[in-house]
Amino acid sequence: MIPRETINQIMETARIEDVVSEFVTLKKRGSNLIGVCPFHKEKTPSFNVNPARNIFKCFGCGKAGDSVRFIMEHEHYSFQEALRYLAKKYGIKIEEREQTPEELAAQNERERMFNINSFAQKYFSDTMMNTDEGQSVGLAYFHERGFRDAIINKFQLGYCPNSGHAFTDFATKNGYDKDLLVKVGLSGSYEDRTYDRYQGRVIFPIHNLTGKVIGFGGRILTSEKTKAKYVNSPESEIYNKSQTLYGIFFARNEISRLDNCILVEGYADVLSMHQAGIENVVASSGTSLTTEQIRMISRYTKNITMLYDGDAAGIHAALRGTNMILEEGMNVRIVVLPPEDDPDSFVQNNPIEVVTKYLEDNAKDFIGFKTNLLLKDAQNDPIKRASVIKDIVETIAVIPDQIYRATYIKECSRTLEMPEQTLTNEVNKILRAKYRKQLGLDPKQDQQLSYQEYQTYQPQQQPIEPKDTTPIGFFQEQELVKLLLVHGSETLDIEGKDENDNDVIYTTTIASLIVDDLKNDGLLFKDETHRKIFDAFDRGLDTGILPTAQDFTSSEDQDVAVLAANLLSTQYKLDDWKRHRIVVKTEEDVLKKAVFNSVLRYKDMVIEDRRATLVKEMQSCTSIDDQLILLQKKKKLDDIRTRINRDLGIVITK
Ligand code: CTP
Ligand code: MN
Repeated sequence: MIPRETINQIMETARIEDVVSEFVTLKKRGSNLIGVCPFHKEKTPSFNVNPARNIFKCFGCGKAGDSVRFIMEHEHYSFQEALRYLAKKYGIKIEEREQTPEELAAQNERERMFNINSFAQKYFSDTMMNTDEGQSVGLAYFHERGFRDAIINKFQLGYCPNSGHAFTDFATKNGYDKDLLVKVGLSGSYEDRTYDRYQGRVIFPIHNLTGKVIGFGGRILTSEKTKAKYVNSPESEIYNKSQTLYGIFFARNEISRLDNCILVEGYADVLSMHQAGIENVVASSGTSLTTEQIRMISRYTKNITMLYDGDAAGIHAALRGTNMILEEGMNVRIVVLPPEDDPDSFVQNNPIEVVTKYLEDNAKDFIGFKTNLLLKDAQNDPIKRASVIKDIVETIAVIPDQIYRATYIKECSRTLEMPEQTLTNEVNKILRAKYRKQLGLDPKQDQQLSYQEYQTYQPQQQPIEPKDTTPIGFFQEQELVKLLLVHGSETLDIEGKDENDNDVIYTTTIASLIVDDLKNDGLLFKDETHRKIFDAFDRGLDTGILPTAQDFTSSEDQDVAVLAANLLSTQYKLDDWKRHRIVVKTEEDVLKKAVFNSVLRYKDMVIEDRRATLVKEMQSCTSIDDQLILLQKKKKLDDIRTRINRDLGIVITK
């Protein structure tokens, strides 16, 4: 457990722009920074970082919060994990407090899965480096394949003994739970026995973006055909294959620096490339790329170079899934290696200068590559040629950037020997059909909207509709919470009456104006999160130390933190007040009006609602006694209403 003081220290030290820019490329816009949101798919950046408030907010998907929240969301970490990550980043030492048994039990499963993986990784590495079997079998295998100790250590490679249960025994002896060992795929279970799933295999740990081990790949050392070449971790809460790229933790800085990501297929390819000093390399681990993987790369660069084996299967693999990459607005180049080579063997067998030169000379633009390849297959068959053209046109049509499309059309018109205009028309036809579909129109009818109209069409952001279940007064509550957050501790001079009905001017905080006023009328916020913030100010008024906005944005309570960050990143609309025919003189005037009007509007809303309910109850009430009670209640509400009306005429002095 991390002591509270350390938590505060971490939160004060962490700079949101620092933390975010490890994952998102940020550009300055005014006093803020903007970038492409890592949490939802978008083409135009709507992800905002506000260094002054130390928070982020995406105006596209609504995610918002402080540094801790960002890491939690991005890495799927718990609160504690995120704090540890930040502490490490800023070199803050965590003096751990002993965990109580209750805390240990509450430690969440994800955290325990990470712990088990980390434990296993250390065991496998240690076994390989420091045991006879490990050295003579595992380490010897890696050495034989040309991997030196530096790369073995860096990628934390290891070996699992052949006994069949050595690891599982060791782990259970160290207090790790059998069920969880099975769940993360380190152990298997058969009837009532538990065994090592990776027995006798060399181990490739798979790291997430922040370097935590989320899974393993275990390679067999023999060429037995009856056994799988690789045993891999199953999908779990911490391991999602389609969202993982092997090597990304070690490659991301270089990808960003070189503005290019080299994509290969296997673990061995990544290791050999890194060992040769080419470090902007990741692997899709034998499957075709997923959108999530592409988006992970696109945070660091828009350029992908795919490196494929020179055999027919390799070339075929290169074509698969590429439209998807183009669709994401990435530039794709392809390098086909000499026949018989894969990236691993090519790098191991050639001096680095030869490798770099080969990559430079042979990186082909994807569309050009595909065109040439298909044309070669089609030879002079006119029907085949027509289908090549169709295929290429479809590929060009997925590119989101119009200028790039035009460039490719120009180039392909040469290679395909087709007039540019014909290709342009074909591409536009596909685009029109696509946009018509997005607009909910019949994609087959072609001519109703002008191309310009299609071009400018952008799917509208859906405004967040209040749900049917949104409680009465929800938005008024929210307005008050926002006033508390932004202006709670500011003071205003108010003209009022003392107990002898004399005019007096008193100074009070906005928090007190709102909180005390509502409490006097016995009004409680209905929304739980609103109420938490309200209560914090209430306590603050009691103790004399009001909470700050930062207290909420970095709250351990996820709902509170997100709401606070959201409310703090939207501007007040002065227009609102103008619409209510309030003469706006100074900022302070606006503020005073805002406070009073918000409180009044909220009360008005709630009272109105309660009164309506009471009136309904009275209509159906048959007992005289109950009628009397209801009448009393109604009178109370009417009194408050009268006061609200009186308050509306409240005089505010400077
Ligand atoms: N792979 C897998 N399971 C298999 C085969 C392959 O998960 N049965 C994945 C692995 O991530 C592997 C990648 O696909 O790294 C590429 O496969 P392959 O080229 O066969 O493996 P390499 O890692 O290149 O292995 P080696 O060079 O040692 O043969
Ligand atoms: Mn290989």
